[in-house]
Amino acid sequence: MKLAVAGKGGVGKTTLVALLAREAVAQGYRVLVVDADSDPNLATTLGIDESVVTLADDEELVTDRVGSGGFVRLNPTVDDIPPRYTVERHGVRLLVLGGIRGGGTGCACPANTLLMALLAHLLVREDDVVLLDMEAGIEHLGRGTVRNVDGLILVVESDRKTLETGERTIGLARELGIQRIVAVANRVRDNEDSQRIRDALPSDIEVAGSIPYLDELRLAARSGGLPEGFSHPSIVELWVRLERSLAPASP
Ligand SMILES: Nc1ncnc2c1ncn2[C@@H]1O[C@H](COP(=O)(O)OP(=O)(O)O)[C@@H](O)[C@H]1O
Ligand SMILES: [Mg+2]
Repeated sequence: MKLAVAGKGGVGKTTLVALLAREAVAQGYRVLVVDADSDPNLATTLGIDESVVTLADDEELVTDRVGSGGFVRLNPTVDDIPPRYTVERHGVRLLVLGGIRGGGTGCACPANTLLMALLAHLLVREDDVVLLDMEAGIEHLGRGTVRNVDGLILVVESDRKTLETGERTIGLARELGIQRIVAVANRVRDNEDSQRIRDALPSDIEVAGSIPYLDELRLAARSGGLPEGFSHPSIVELWVRLERSLAPASP
C-alpha cells in the first residue's frame, strides 16, 4: 500500500514515517520511504549518514524523463527504482525527492511531477509499503501530487492551529478523491489532548492511533536520528490499525 503522511510543520511527520517504516519491516513488509519535503531530513532520522542522490539532483532524469514518463512509464515495481537513488538502512529503503538548490533559485516542480508519476505508476505487491513523508502544510495536496496514494495519515496535536491545518488537509485530500484518511494524535500528554483532537476532527475521521509525548524522541533528536532499535507499543498498535483501515481492498 502507498500511504502519505501529512500535517503541519513540526507535528511529527518525519518521526512517524521512520517509526512506522521500522515497524512495517519488523512485520515482514518490503518498505520504501520517500522524503518529499524540499527540506529533507528523513535520512538523518533513519540514522543514514551517507549522502543521498536526490531525484531533483539528476537534471537529466528530471528534464528528459518527466515529459516522456521515463522509468515511471514502464509501470515500475518498487524494485525497478534505480538503486542509485535509494539508500537502505535496517531494511528500510529511502528515496529522496530533493528540490531547492539555493536561496531564491529553487523550484521543486519537475521533481514533484516525477513524484506524482511515480506514485501513479508504481506497482506495489501486497507485501510492499510505500510511505511518503510530505512537505509541511498543504502544498502537495494543493498541487495534486499525492492523488494516487491508497491512504492519507494526518498527524495532529491538540493545539488549535495544527488542527486547523488538519481540517484544510482533510478537505483537500477529499477533493483529490483520496478515500481513506485517518488521523494520528501525536505528543499526547493527557485525556484533554485526546478529547480536543477527537472533537476538532470530522466525526467520520478515525483517530487510528495516539502517540504519547516520548522523552526518548526529544533527547534522540539532539543527535538527529531515532534511538537505535527504538519502538513503542503505540506504534505497534497504530500499524495494526493502519493495515486494517488503509490497505486497499484486495482485488
Ligand atoms: N511523540 C513525540 N514525543 C516527543 N517528541 C517528539 C514526538 N514526535 C516528534 N517529536 C519531536 O518533534 C520534533 C519534530 O518532529 P518531526 O518528525 O521532525 O516533525 P515534522 O516532520 O512534522 O516537521 C523532532 O525533534 C522529534 O523528535
Ligand atoms: Mg519532517
